[in-house]
Amino acid sequence: MTTTDASDKPAPTRFKPVHPRLVRYWHWINAFAIIVMILSGWRIYNASPVFPGFRFPNDFTIGSHLAGALEIHFAAMWLLVINAIIYLIYGFVSGHFRRNFLPLWPSLFWRDFNLALDGKLEHHIGVYNAVQRVAYVGVILAIIGVVLSGVAIWKPVQFQTLAALMGGYEGARIVHFLMMSAIVAFILLHLALVVAVPKTLWPMLWGRARGEDGHGDKS
Ligand code: HEM
Repeated sequence: MTTTDASDKPAPTRFKPVHPRLVRYWHWINAFAIIVMILSGWRIYNASPVFPGFRFPNDFTIGSHLAGALEIHFAAMWLLVINAIIYLIYGFVSGHFRRNFLPLWPSLFWRDFNLALDGKLEHHIGVYNAVQRVAYVGVILAIIGVVLSGVAIWKPVQFQTLAALMGGYEGARIVHFLMMSAIVAFILLHLALVVAVPKTLWPMLWGRARGEDGHGDKS
């Protein structure tokens, strides 16, 4: 008869919390809203380009006509803004931003940036390196900027001070375009990093990671 010693059993897999539920919900709703806003925004842009020589390929736009694209753009805007307000309040009140996005010293950014270029930057699930922190804080600011410049374009009379700060209606359109471009650049970099370190994806979906990888934000 064989007996099984408890110590022979493989240690049970331990899953630890990484990304809080609210952050995950914000993230995926935000990704959906941003992508819908960009693609419908390109359709709106094509109807009256800020830079006359440049148009987005129609195959990469949504909204069969200008009015349809505007409706889609505004619907996604409300989703994006309400979702962002909840995330920003949570981020500041819970300490999520302080714990995960700070410190942000330029010296730390350059150290991690150079390590990344040399292929030596380690990634621990739930811990953002300084390059990620700068990118995340940057894209959150760009989202705020795209919303504010969008409001200035939408209601340039009611929000004339805001529009004036951006150089008037035409200036606000350029700011809106530049913020959109920064967000698109972030998305391309962000997706490239997810492809480079695919083990980060599952915890952002499920909120947990296995064993020693899961020592991230628990709030
Ligand atoms: C649609 C495809 C996307 C995928 C697959 C994706 C994937 C991910 C993953 C895996 C993480 C966690 C990274 C880690 O643990 O090191 C993350 C975090 C993050 N992503 Fe994305 N992402 C997408 C779209 C976006 C978009 C469109 C934005 C904003 C424009 C965005 C902004 C962020 C931010 C700010 C964080 C940090 C969240 C926090 O901890 O508060 N992502 N993303």
